[in-house]
Amino acid sequence: FAVSELRSSLLTWYAQLGRDLPWRRTRDPYAIWISEIMLQQTQVKTVIPYFERWMTLFPTVDALAKADLQAVLKAWEGLGYYARARNLHRAAQTIVEQHHGLFPQELDAVLALPGIGRTTAGGILSAAFNQPLAILDGNVKRVLARLMALDVPPNRALSALWHWSEAMLDPARSHEFNQAFMDLGATICTPKKPACLLCPWQRHCRAYNLGTQSELPMSEPR
Ligand code: ADE
Repeated sequence: FAVSELRSSLLTWYAQLGRDLPWRRTRDPYAIWISEIMLQQTQVKTVIPYFERWMTLFPTVDALAKADLQAVLKAWEGLGYYARARNLHRAAQTIVEQHHGLFPQELDAVLALPGIGRTTAGGILSAAFNQPLAILDGNVKRVLARLMALDVPPNRALSALWHWSEAMLDPARSHEFNQAFMDLGATICTPKKPACLLCPWQRHCRAYNLGTQSELPMSEPR
């Protein structure tokens, strides 16, 4: 695979057509963390006003750690999956106690916080500190499943998908690359009717070349 061509075509597309989202205008790891947790199970359009309100209510790790759990849950009201809000509150207290109130930069320390798995950690550390860490969220899984014409359901091939995401990542521009990868899945390589004619990876895409993009990714067994 021409990895350098995949990187440059995606980054050029993103510079022109990437989405302008509030958490992309900051390098504050706290703000980026909040956005990534909200985005775990909630759509971008819904998250935006919640994110902006949250940052006025709890502008720092310290403010969140000191807030009453009831106020935290109230600010979360409507987003669902309330364990996420409880974990944010607990993690903020851990960050104050163990990291002097500064969001940690060490991958292992980030993964030790409640509510943060490998994709969320990679998303935060690449966006805040440009660390060369890959992600594998639902969007990226779908893009890679089509690009590689993956012939099994994505959750059956996680180690291959992580390997591809890592191989694709432009290590010097991991922030932009990961954001671009998610945008490609969210706006072009959509679950239904992907807009292949607008895709910067069209000519590299095995599914497109086979005409199987609408059948991929294969569905997970129920
Ligand atoms: N989904 C998860 N993280 C995201 C991000 N940073 N931007 C857009 N969608 C996302």
